[in-house]
Amino acid sequence: LNLLHSAVCLQFSSLLLFCFGLCSSWWGGVQMGPPDPILGVTEAFKRDTNPKKMNLGVGAYRDDQGKPFVLSCVRKAEALIASKQLDKEYLPIGGLGEFTKACAQLALGNDSEVLKSSRNITVQTISGTGSLRIGANFLSRFHGGPRDVYLPKPSWGNHTPIFRDAGMQLKAYRYYDPSTCGFDFKGALEDISKIPEQSVILLHACAHNPTGVDPRPEQWKEIADIVKKRNLLVFFDMAYQGFASGDIDRDAWAVRYFIEQGHNIVLSQSFAKNMGLYGERVGGFTVVCKDAEEAKRVESQLKILIRPIYSNPPMNGARIASTILSTPDLRSLWLEEVHGMANRIIKMREQLAAGLKKNGSSHNWQHVIDQIGMFCFTGLKPEQVERIIKEYSVYMTKDGRISMAGVSSGNVGYLAEAIHAVTK
Ligand SMILES: Cc1ncc(COP(=O)(O)O)c(C=O)c1O
Repeated sequence: LNLLHSAVCLQFSSLLLFCFGLCSSWWGGVQMGPPDPILGVTEAFKRDTNPKKMNLGVGAYRDDQGKPFVLSCVRKAEALIASKQLDKEYLPIGGLGEFTKACAQLALGNDSEVLKSSRNITVQTISGTGSLRIGANFLSRFHGGPRDVYLPKPSWGNHTPIFRDAGMQLKAYRYYDPSTCGFDFKGALEDISKIPEQSVILLHACAHNPTGVDPRPEQWKEIADIVKKRNLLVFFDMAYQGFASGDIDRDAWAVRYFIEQGHNIVLSQSFAKNMGLYGERVGGFTVVCKDAEEAKRVESQLKILIRPIYSNPPMNGARIASTILSTPDLRSLWLEEVHGMANRIIKMREQLAAGLKKNGSSHNWQHVIDQIGMFCFTGLKPEQVERIIKEYSVYMTKDGRISMAGVSSGNVGYLAEAIHAVTK
């Protein structure tokens, strides 16, 4: 009887478990997460019916008609690649060889001592974000110093989750001075000089996002000195080479200077902005090593790290970028086009500042001109941002950052009017 009773009980509990399994969900405990702050701006913009609306949230270049821009050098490279009828075999784990070579050359310069002595390893990555994440994972696994990464305050919003998800801890150094809308040089030096030795410091190579504020060469020199004294590992993020000044060498100056001074940096590169290859996801991650033998060891570990994440990178964008970089005609066309994009942005900065003055603004808007690259940190306070969105349909992130790439001859006047109205 006892045995029969146990069998019935077992049957009953299996039935209960079965029912419970069917009725409940695996993900009942998953909480709703907040929307991405930048993509959230785009959503709100799309819903707005005001014909004068402007989306200055997203960091993607637009032409003077406000349209997404595909560079002619990209179209030509695509045609050239298509005509070759290439195969679609897997790339190696570290990516397309011609691309990684050209990518490192672009950042470090043609006659870089590092390249000549083969003491770098460069792998192709899933644009700048993928590069930062591979870098963060590599540091997390192999960096012998503290697990702290020091970011400028503020920094690109994605830096924090990238490093945090890779198991690093985030710290900050002063960077932006809201009272001048410029670089807090003194604050940065003070903070950097207190960073514990062998920690990691992240530096934006040029066109700092979100502030548009870059150190001047003489300031970079002092930063390089202090960083050396503290024996910090430098992680350069170069997402805008060429986009800041229109000159690829000028924009890579800080990276090259640090290397000349003996810093064995790590470096992330993106071709999203300077070649307009946003959705193609083309980037590179470089580790500058002590010598070629060390570079080989690092390479082996980068491959071990990449293989279980995405196995090997996509080929299309890397083919486009390497074709542009290694075909003389296309390369010169690209340099002209990068220059053209940077110049249009610089012109918009000048017209915006002039427009504010014309509207009778009594504030000093020099920072709009002085800041560099795609973004301008306007200095608008959160309540002014709220008003400009609500009353003028001018969309931007809460911190008052606007993408200058979304400003055109057609709407710069309206933008000046709107900014003046909420800052009077
Ligand atoms: C500072 C910085 N780093 C990296 C990136 C990476 O962009 P992507 O992954 O599109 O190359 C961006 C893009 O906005 C950026 O601003």
